[in-house]
Amino acid sequence: MKILITGSNGMLAKAVKNEFKDEELVLTDVNELDITDLEKAISFINEIKPDIIINCAAYTAVDKAEEQKEIAYKVNAIGPKNLAIASKVCNSILVHISTDYVFGGNKPISEEYVEDDIKEPQAVYGSTKLEGEKFIEKECDMFYIFRTAWLYGDGNNFVRTMIEAAKTHNKVYVVNDQHGSPTYAVDLASIIHQAINKRIPYGIYNATNIGNTTWFDFTRDIYKIKGIKTEVIPVTSEEYKRPAKRPLNSQMSKEKLLEFGIKIPSYKDALERYINIEK
Ligand SMILES: NC(=O)c1ccc[n+]([C@@H]2O[C@H](COP(=O)([O-])OP(=O)(O)OC[C@H]3O[C@@H](n4cnc5c(N)ncnc54)[C@H](OP(=O)(O)O)[C@@H]3O)[C@@H](O)[C@H]2O)c1
Repeated sequence: MKILITGSNGMLAKAVKNEFKDEELVLTDVNELDITDLEKAISFINEIKPDIIINCAAYTAVDKAEEQKEIAYKVNAIGPKNLAIASKVCNSILVHISTDYVFGGNKPISEEYVEDDIKEPQAVYGSTKLEGEKFIEKECDMFYIFRTAWLYGDGNNFVRTMIEAAKTHNKVYVVNDQHGSPTYAVDLASIIHQAINKRIPYGIYNATNIGNTTWFDFTRDIYKIKGIKTEVIPVTSEEYKRPAKRPLNSQMSKEKLLEFGIKIPSYKDALERYINIEK
């Protein structure tokens, strides 16, 4: 299989490269293929004719997006649209990554979002990602959109930040009213691989590790595994205000993927593996 990976220096892209290392890979960063440029996307993709395009490119600065709406829209909405058009021209399968932020986050905590639930993004990043999903649905048929959340892996991420913070702080304050599933990029890459191998039906799938937690409890898990004694103090989202509103409930059901026999590890198992690799 010939696979084109866009945004190849990103956190997920690194895990995807490794997951698909036995395939013929074409890796492109923004200089080699800027996904916001339709002509370039079509000519580049037409030349290499990949069987699959895995779009790991995105504008992921959630808070900055509030001020940089245009660039966020270009990368997160127009970019996927361009890739969808180009993939149709070349008969390639398009794999794209979206986010829990397309949902409103106000479902009761006892419930998880399913794929078809109403979309009510609360901030710019989520609305641009939702536009990207819609363009893909409109422009091509052979696509997978995997909605993930709370991603960590080889790059700057929450786990690394909390471990670093503990080196200089006796206490850390962590939000305790946002609920979701931390997701190891390596496991998301494996989900993508399994889905392709099994040729599950095209469409949109929630794709995070299994199990729900809060950032506060997740930090306690991180410190427990690392043997860190720093005290973790719970705070509310109201107390820890950010420019972009965060969903309180980011929990997404994985039933749709599980029904097709996709194996998804728990977030606790994933965290242990990640921390052991990072050591
Ligand atoms: N991180 C999370 O917690 C999270 C949560 C939910 C969903 N997601 C989604 O998961 C996917 C992967 O996220 P990630 O954390 O791996 O992202 P990331 O580390 O920020 O990587 C994104 C990559 O896209 C590149 N890029 C930006 N604009 C581009 C353009 N116009 N053309 C080509 N490449 C471009 C970036 O290059 P530069 O660095 O040079 O700008 C970067 O290498 C994204 O779709 C994201 O929306 C992430």
